[in-house]
Amino acid sequence: MLKRSLFVSLLLGFVSCGGKVSPTNNTESASNGRIIYLAKCIACHGNDGTKGLGGAKDLLASTLTNKEVIDIITTGKGSMAGYGAILSEEEIIQVTEYITTLRR
Ligand code: HEC
Repeated sequence: MLKRSLFVSLLLGFVSCGGKVSPTNNTESASNGRIIYLAKCIACHGNDGTKGLGGAKDLLASTLTNKEVIDIITTGKGSMAGYGAILSEEEIIQVTEYITTLRR
């Protein structure tokens, strides 16, 4: 529970200072996000997010908010395992940013 509230406060901090983040930082975290995506997510979601192995949702068609995406990546959903114990909170935010840039 403590971990979760820490996570939420980090997330809120992240969102609230979003306007001040320089373009360089955004590019950097998006490319880290891609590296994480390639390492952990591509098997089911595919290179472009549409593969849908085992019922995986098309990430390009997703309408979830960033917070909802972060929750799913952290705790998992259906046959997708959570990554809360595998990725750091920062990495989860980076991969979330990356997959939302894929959207149509
Ligand atoms: C073992 C296969 C598998 C892997 C690996 C996997 N996913 Fe998934 N993912 C799924 C499945 C299956 C669903 C659909 C879950 C459901 O709705 O029941 C899903 C759903 C999602 C959703 C919700 C999409 C929506 O609009 O509902 C997101 C976001 C997501 N995955 C991101 C990721 C990310 C990021 C990674 C890598 C850190 C990842 N997934 C790794 C199988 C996987």
